[in-house]
Amino acid sequence: MSDRKILVTSALPYANGPIHLGHLVEYIQTDIWVRFQKQRGNHCYFVCADDTHGTPIMLKADREGITPEQLIAQVGIEHLADFTEFGVVFDNYHSTHSEENRLFSSLIYERLRDAGHISSRTITQAFDPIKNMFLSDRFIKGECPKCGAHDQYGDSCEACGATYAPTELKNAVSTISGAKPVDKDSVHYFFNLADFNEMLSDWTSAGHLQPEVRNKLAEWLESGLQQWDISRDAPYFGFEIPDAPGKYFYVWLDAPIGYMASFKNLCTKKELDFDEYWALDSTAELYHFIGKDIIYFHALFWPAMLSGAQFRTPTAIFAHGFLTVNGEKMSKSRGTFITARTYLDHLNPEYLRYYFAAKLSAGVDDIDLNFDDFSQRVNSDLVGKVVNIASRCSGFISKRFANTLSATCSEPLLFQDFINANKQIAEFYETREFGKAMREIMALADKANQYIDEKKPWLIAKQEGNDTELHAVCSMGINLFRLLTVFLKPVIPELVKEAEHFLNIDSQAWPVAAQPLLNHIINDFKPLMTRVEADKIAAIVEASKENLEKTAAQHTQIAPEKKFEPIADTIEFEDFAKLDLRIAKIIKAESIEGSDKLLQLTVDIGDEIRTILAGIKSAYAPEDLEGKLTLVIANLAPRKMRFGNSEGMVLAAGSGGKDIWILSPDEGATAGMRVK
Ligand code: MSP
Ligand code: ZN
Repeated sequence: MSDRKILVTSALPYANGPIHLGHLVEYIQTDIWVRFQKQRGNHCYFVCADDTHGTPIMLKADREGITPEQLIAQVGIEHLADFTEFGVVFDNYHSTHSEENRLFSSLIYERLRDAGHISSRTITQAFDPIKNMFLSDRFIKGECPKCGAHDQYGDSCEACGATYAPTELKNAVSTISGAKPVDKDSVHYFFNLADFNEMLSDWTSAGHLQPEVRNKLAEWLESGLQQWDISRDAPYFGFEIPDAPGKYFYVWLDAPIGYMASFKNLCTKKELDFDEYWALDSTAELYHFIGKDIIYFHALFWPAMLSGAQFRTPTAIFAHGFLTVNGEKMSKSRGTFITARTYLDHLNPEYLRYYFAAKLSAGVDDIDLNFDDFSQRVNSDLVGKVVNIASRCSGFISKRFANTLSATCSEPLLFQDFINANKQIAEFYETREFGKAMREIMALADKANQYIDEKKPWLIAKQEGNDTELHAVCSMGINLFRLLTVFLKPVIPELVKEAEHFLNIDSQAWPVAAQPLLNHIINDFKPLMTRVEADKIAAIVEASKENLEKTAAQHTQIAPEKKFEPIADTIEFEDFAKLDLRIAKIIKAESIEGSDKLLQLTVDIGDEIRTILAGIKSAYAPEDLEGKLTLVIANLAPRKMRFGNSEGMVLAAGSGGKDIWILSPDEGATAGMRVK
């Protein structure tokens, strides 16, 4: 076995929100790979950190009335607790807001600057005159210059897909204060990525990337590399640029440097040699596991920064796809935006580790968590195939043979088959083809179960004087079970730890030449895993919907001053005359799945039947409304809302909650009557 030196990272999660199941695809994938390397006897270190800098974190702390330092300390603890309970074990978990990171960020910046790769120039940007801060596109909203849709971000329109500059938005406002942004000049610092054109063309085609990622990069390289803006003006939560007071490193500059900083912190604790892993002449392997959304940063900026600052570049970047739930993007309203904590409140984390392993490959395809498939796989593979072998054999071993395995191996060839499979399984783990590894292991589990089915120990047990055979068969079953657990150890470490206790053996290394356990005393068997229960999954979805309601409520409580209410100017009579107000008859009223505010009304406005989504669910039950007359604006442009199209508006009075009255006309009115 080789004795490789390997440094592995997962992307650093942002410190402004909880870990969710999408994140876990990555952290579980990395953890499995690292556990495999360690089990093989390699020197492998797995480091990570919270990504703590930037405007969203600063604003969130502000909203919660705490300092950014307090916020990131609190979130850091929560993140680490989530990871730990999912069995994701880092050799070090640090923070980008650390002394090590400040030092390396300054060092790398200074080396790049001294080599002539940094330039500065003045740019004009949107500025919030109330908050006194520059606004990036995501903090500006307004009407789309193409289609007029309201409430669109500064860079692109979700309704029509148009892209534009924030200055083109109509009636733009700062989402932070509600103020109208003004243009303002400021000096920015840039990293001259184009200096690295050749270096990057070589590097990206030298086997460090997956083929599909390499192709994407070739496109980007072809379209030309732009200067990268690495500075932000105060107020900004981050590191001040050494020679530019009031300017801060953009969060994405110091984030990947956080990999080095976390490792440096580990070196100090463990007396490791930092240079052995990061110096230009390092022979250690360096791998970054990331999601496909952050390839640009890791495969272009990062290698260029490292190379420009005289550090080694990564051995490989392993990008993975995105998690969907039941075939769709995770959705808060559907209850499929599931946090790590909510999952942990209801289900065994190793179910998810196994499920992700079974679905993961070396590619960047998205992976889907389908709840039915999830239960079925876990129940049939782990509970039905693997654990079942131990439970089928252990009873006889304990009752009839005082928990002692037989002194000889009755099927050495079968045992050897299992050992021989280690090579193929190891190769699948090594190349991140975890799905293939799981299929290989489950094929072995099928073999073991077939062996037991053929031998029928439950029948042998009833025959007089056939103890030796019973002993041999059950001991063989236990020995095969043991090999299955050693192959599954990177994926379900807790279950395997308990299995090792049952087997009364030390933590198992990768079984290149393992011998059967003979004449060996085992412990009493305890059920190692129970089946996934459907009601637990339903509870997770329910709780995820509740989370959503809770956070929505918190937001309005904590940040009422942030809610922007435009002050209405007076309107002209002509404006009023434009309104087509009609009496409408509510033909049908229905709840909308996932929405606790809206009702879907089908109304008759005289010459047409319309669908209107109205925020009146807190005050009316659907059955109270059917057959009633109400007032609607019939010529309001249809609005695409999250739950569908609304073709008009119902007029109501009141302040909200229970206190809403839809306006209903006197008797005698009929649907379609115009109101003037
Ligand atoms: N802070 C940056 C990374 C900096 S690395 C120097 C970031 N943070 S993140 O919290 O948004 O995401 C962390 C990792 O989780 C990223 O690799 C991201 O791709 C991954 N995922 C986040 N949501 C995901 C899914 N829904 N599915 C799969 N992976 C996802 O990006
Ligand atoms: Zn538009």
